[in-house]
Amino acid sequence: MDKLTIAIAKGRLGNQGLELFKGSEYEINVKENSRKLVHYSANKKVNFIFVKPADVVTYVEKKVADLGIVGKDIILEDNKDVYEVLDLNFGKCRFVIAGFKDQNLVKKNEVLTIGTNYPAYVESIFKNKDQEIEIIKLRGAVELAPLMGLSEVIVDIVETGSTLADNGLVVLEELDPISARLIANKVSYRFKFDEIRKIEKLLGGL
Ligand code: PRP
Repeated sequence: MDKLTIAIAKGRLGNQGLELFKGSEYEINVKENSRKLVHYSANKKVNFIFVKPADVVTYVEKKVADLGIVGKDIILEDNKDVYEVLDLNFGKCRFVIAGFKDQNLVKKNEVLTIGTNYPAYVESIFKNKDQEIEIIKLRGAVELAPLMGLSEVIVDIVETGSTLADNGLVVLEELDPISARLIANKVSYRFKFDEIRKIEKLLGGL
């Protein structure tokens, strides 16, 4: 059997992803506080690599990894040429446009400023809207931008809604739903089909 490499997003999403392999022949034993980035399953059939969430799609597209577990938010932002195999149904949240209550998203002949960690996604959302925008790229704590007058609205992910509420912001428009996905390199999916199907079934695919 061909070996598989799976790129896992470091952090909460990746940890939940690893849970799905527990009790299977691919289970790995990651010691608490370990900084090791490469882990072989006990049977040596699968090599897990831990990368930044935003890099999972890159590793898979470049075929360094055959499979990846990553949030749909990253897939939408990166728009890379990978095959989305399976919705893993965890890490559920959604993209929204948020701002102050009653704020108007349509500003005739004026530019709407948008703070976000997802500039390409925002670009794609507003492509079909008749509104000129300026995107302000931020790397975190995006909710701060409207509060401090850095941007009028934000596009960000919302899970419980408490970060918005705690900062006096509301959802102005619902965008795409998000959850963790299993992605595959397109060539790997063809040439390592049997191995990948085994993983797909293990993770809940038909
Ligand atoms: C994410 C996101 C929101 C928050 C939403 O931030 O950017 O700020 O979670 O979750 P909630 O609806 O349950 O409050 P994260 O915690 O990843 O940190 P960040 O602000 O550094 O991006």
